[in-house]
Amino acid sequence: MKAVALTHYLPIDNPRSLFDTELPEPPAPTGHDLLVQVKAIAVNPVDTKVRAPKDKVENAPKVLGWDAAGVVQAVGPDVTAFAPGDEVFYAGDITRPGTNAELQLVDARIVGRKPRNLSFAQAAAFPLVTITAWEAFFHHLALQPDGSGGQSGSILIIGGAGGVGSIGIQLAKRAGLTVLATASREETQSWVRELGADHVIHHHEPIEPQLKAAGHEQVDYIANFHDTDRYWQLMADVIRPLGKIVSIVENSAPVEIGLLKAKSVSFHWEFMFTRAMFRTPDMGEQGKLLDAAADLIEKGQLKRLDRQTYQPINAENLRAAHALLESGRSIGKITLEGWPA
Ligand SMILES: NC(=O)c1ccc[n+]([C@@H]2O[C@H](COP(=O)([O-])OP(=O)(O)OC[C@H]3O[C@@H](n4cnc5c(N)ncnc54)[C@H](OP(=O)(O)O)[C@@H]3O)[C@@H](O)[C@H]2O)c1
Repeated sequence: MKAVALTHYLPIDNPRSLFDTELPEPPAPTGHDLLVQVKAIAVNPVDTKVRAPKDKVENAPKVLGWDAAGVVQAVGPDVTAFAPGDEVFYAGDITRPGTNAELQLVDARIVGRKPRNLSFAQAAAFPLVTITAWEAFFHHLALQPDGSGGQSGSILIIGGAGGVGSIGIQLAKRAGLTVLATASREETQSWVRELGADHVIHHHEPIEPQLKAAGHEQVDYIANFHDTDRYWQLMADVIRPLGKIVSIVENSAPVEIGLLKAKSVSFHWEFMFTRAMFRTPDMGEQGKLLDAAADLIEKGQLKRLDRQTYQPINAENLRAAHALLESGRSIGKITLEGWPA
């Protein structure tokens, strides 16, 4: 099968950083696994973080990629929810070979049915970021996806125009919150407004005066989708007493947890690979939430995230997609579709 892989961890302008290759097909699926024919993929910062230059060398080509839409080719004996021919979308498991290959084994419990009204490329834009924002808001911050329970309040979304922010803004609006989303460029500011942000905050300018001017000197929730270290003090300053903070970005230095004590603020980590990585008994929650997202997409209640699509899926296009992500200026999601003839 065709795949894009690496053996050496190199800067993305090096043509060997990601190369086209032929790999043996995966074996027939066992247990809860599906064998999926990958039709489209999306890229995420996790790909560039895993690929980041280092001395390590792989003995066999390593396949990255954690977002796909495709067609089920075969199912393991324990699979009940899917059959060959079903169209699916999923992010997968960071401890297993990734989506950048024509065929992939993935645990059915973390797979959802592909929204019928989307192409494979459009669908591939959703899984990883949707799982992340959904788990952050509805599993950790305990918000209700449909706003039931009469919840209201405000949320500051740091990094509004990126992949996670783009779905996060939409989910937070559906949950009934007033959304203050950060974006620094004209095009990212208009993108976050299009997605439903009530207020746009420029993250390269002082944030507190902008929150005050927007009538939200303090916020009930903060979702940090960009940089935990950089925004720690700000988060401690602007969170309301008894508020909740969720972050998805690893800190590179110890953070001062004590800053949250006087206000009794709770802090949550969200890592969307946790359930698959530790095979938690509730890992099926991810399949369920992807199905729920597919329903919302089909009802027109979630807007598409894809902003740029490369064809076909090959090393040259994947290197271009990684380079754009690494520039820090990507908007929404970048997808790749179809394999070379
Ligand atoms: N824990 C998890 O499970 C999980 C899951 C997904 C992602 N992540 C991590 O979350 C981060 C975001 O992922 P992503 O896919 O949304 O990234 P992304 O799409 O690459 O984000 C790009 C956006 O970052 C914004 N940005 C640049 N500088 C910023 C700043 N100083 N403050 C706030 N935003 C800034 C840019 O907005 P402007 O152009 O307007 O400046 C740009 O639109 C990454 O570190 C990723 O690894 C973690």
